[in-house]
Amino acid sequence: MRFMARFDPIFQTALDHMAQQHTRRVLHPMRHVGAANVVRNGRTLINFSSNDYLGLAHHPALAARAAAWLAEDGTGAGASRLVTGTSTRHMAVEARLAAFKGTQAALLLASGWQANASVLAALLRLAAGQGAPPLVFADRLNHASLHQGCMAAGVRQLRFRHNDLDHLESLLGHHAQTPGMRVIVTESVFSMDGDQTDIARLAAIARQYGAFTYVDEAHATGVLGPQGRGLCAGHDIDLVMGTFSKALGGFGAFVTGTRALCDWLVNACSGFVFTTAPPPAVLGAMDAALELLPTLDAERARLVRNADHIRGVIRDCGLSPAPSMTQIIPIMLGEAPRALAFAAHLEERGILATAIRPPTVPPGSSRIRLALGAAHTDGMIDQLATAIPAALREST
Ligand SMILES: Cc1ncc(COP(=O)(O)O)c(C=O)c1O
Repeated sequence: MRFMARFDPIFQTALDHMAQQHTRRVLHPMRHVGAANVVRNGRTLINFSSNDYLGLAHHPALAARAAAWLAEDGTGAGASRLVTGTSTRHMAVEARLAAFKGTQAALLLASGWQANASVLAALLRLAAGQGAPPLVFADRLNHASLHQGCMAAGVRQLRFRHNDLDHLESLLGHHAQTPGMRVIVTESVFSMDGDQTDIARLAAIARQYGAFTYVDEAHATGVLGPQGRGLCAGHDIDLVMGTFSKALGGFGAFVTGTRALCDWLVNACSGFVFTTAPPPAVLGAMDAALELLPTLDAERARLVRNADHIRGVIRDCGLSPAPSMTQIIPIMLGEAPRALAFAAHLEERGILATAIRPPTVPPGSSRIRLALGAAHTDGMIDQLATAIPAALREST
């Protein structure tokens, strides 16, 4: 075997620099055991780092429909949706999704990252063609894929303080006379802090300033809102983006909005046009998850109860769960080495709860990100509640 290693010194220097900064990442092989456990380094751990919030990734209904659609239609879609890739399955899942979200239309995309990076880029390029550069008002802690969409369109963002709608309003007011289409880009549940945007107020502000609203519901879909329809359900939000990769237990993403918006994206969004359509097994899991969601109120209530309890445990230790209001609960620890040590102590106690460090979060805000799931038993929640104060004692 021949290896081309000529450029390795460049890569190695970059890796060494990351290691010095405590930000180098490595891949840890593991195996899922049911919805709530993983085996890592030969040990069974309780998984508190999965976004499979409803345990659907291991639900038999999803596995059965994925297997049935795969058996009927094969492993791959064969082409882009615009070439020969659109099946009646794609149309049926989109129709089910639009009905679930209460919108005119829906469009499936390959992944959440790809959706934000390409849908937002297309939208901002269209906005730029309306006579003046668009004004993009973006939450300071928006997900990397939303930044990517803005960067791909070459647009400078006007950042408002995290989840601070007063600041958003004052920026809109400040730019009231500046020409250009206004686009507000935010998340309904923030992936690293677990806090929620006040969507009713966001919609009212957008209406007042004539702004287009783009809201990422990756972490709310399935979990929050009536029957898990998300926090934007029932509000005037122009474009809602969501994923099937988290509470819906599968893979892929979507946007919902008007028929004209979705028809335009079919023509203008490079991440839709120039990629192969989602394959049958993935569609089957999507379809079954959408069918199940309205029946999962007990699971959603369990998440709320357990999250309240764990936030109480964190506060009782003198630590901060930041402004978490959802199943995503950070334990704020400051510098990366402290977060890494805390994660190691939790792991010794059978808990997998990954440390999140810059650049995923701002410098000085390294944390453990706990993600609760409906599949966690009372015993598992008790084990976590005991492990947190113990890890704190051992790491100070
Ligand atoms: C807020 C947010 N948007 C988008 C994504 C990307 O979604 P996906 O994992 O489906 O690519 C994520 C997941 O990391 C996310 O947290």
